[in-house]
Amino acid sequence: MKRAKITIVGAGNVGATTANWCAARELGDIVLLDIPEAGSMPHGKALDLLEASPIAAFDVSIVGTTDYADTVGSDVVVVTAGVARKPGMSRDDLLATNSRIVGSVAEHIRDTSPNAVVIVVSNPLDAMAQRVLDVTKFPKERVIGQAGVLDTARFRAFVAAELGVSVKDVIAMLLGGHGDTMVPLLSCASVGGIPVTQLIERSRLDEIVKRTRDGGAEIVSLLKTGSAYYAPAAAAAQMVEAVVRDSRRLIPCAAYCDKEYNVGGYFVGVPVVLGNGGVQKIIELSLDDNEAAAFRKSVDAVKELVGKL
Ligand code: LAC
Repeated sequence: MKRAKITIVGAGNVGATTANWCAARELGDIVLLDIPEAGSMPHGKALDLLEASPIAAFDVSIVGTTDYADTVGSDVVVVTAGVARKPGMSRDDLLATNSRIVGSVAEHIRDTSPNAVVIVVSNPLDAMAQRVLDVTKFPKERVIGQAGVLDTARFRAFVAAELGVSVKDVIAMLLGGHGDTMVPLLSCASVGGIPVTQLIERSRLDEIVKRTRDGGAEIVSLLKTGSAYYAPAAAAAQMVEAVVRDSRRLIPCAAYCDKEYNVGGYFVGVPVVLGNGGVQKIIELSLDDNEAAAFRKSVDAVKELVGKL
């Protein structure tokens, strides 16, 4: 079987770590690309990762480059390009700079990999996914934002630690934008099939939800020089895996929603079935009044941001 070709745009912490996860799971041959000003840095990271392959036992090719010619015909492109936030900044503060960078990346993807599924990781996430869709004019199911997998992973990690159980048994779902207005759905969270609300009292769950919402900022304030990358990269790699292996994962992703949830043409986090070709299905949940109001607020925040593009 032909191996998938996976291009990762941006060889910084998120991009290089995504390459690491994708290589270790043998998801496909990898091209790690950065801008020409990065010099030979992507080549160095790619070579270093390749040299890890005999030890970690993975057989894929890994190429570093600053030339989109090397990315031609990619099956999946992960966009991590752009600046990361510093302490005190919100994801939205990155809008002007990153929409310029991501717009240019999207032009190159359109011209070199017209059939690719594009997974957007750059922030502010929901607006950057919109930018990629607008520029590439790809079918909407082939542009997806990474956010929900990361946000639910944070929630799952905190719940597992709280209960002293395996993270593998904690399931969660979340809606809305990748920002302060994200909507973790407690009604959909369970541990070994048991509703989380039966295991953790409500006031403590509210604290965990708040920590999840602020999860990105918590890492930024600890690192001081940039933002999270291990978990965002693991989340991106899980999405790559779903696409290249057609594993049809039912996970939260930022998908383009029009009639769905009455969003009206924006990217927001919703449950999707992710597999070959990208978003195969958007799952519409019935929400209670509180969840619906919180979701509306989150969609409005995304709309406002996209309005500034
Ligand atoms: C975070 C950034 C990467 O949530 O959006 O950590």
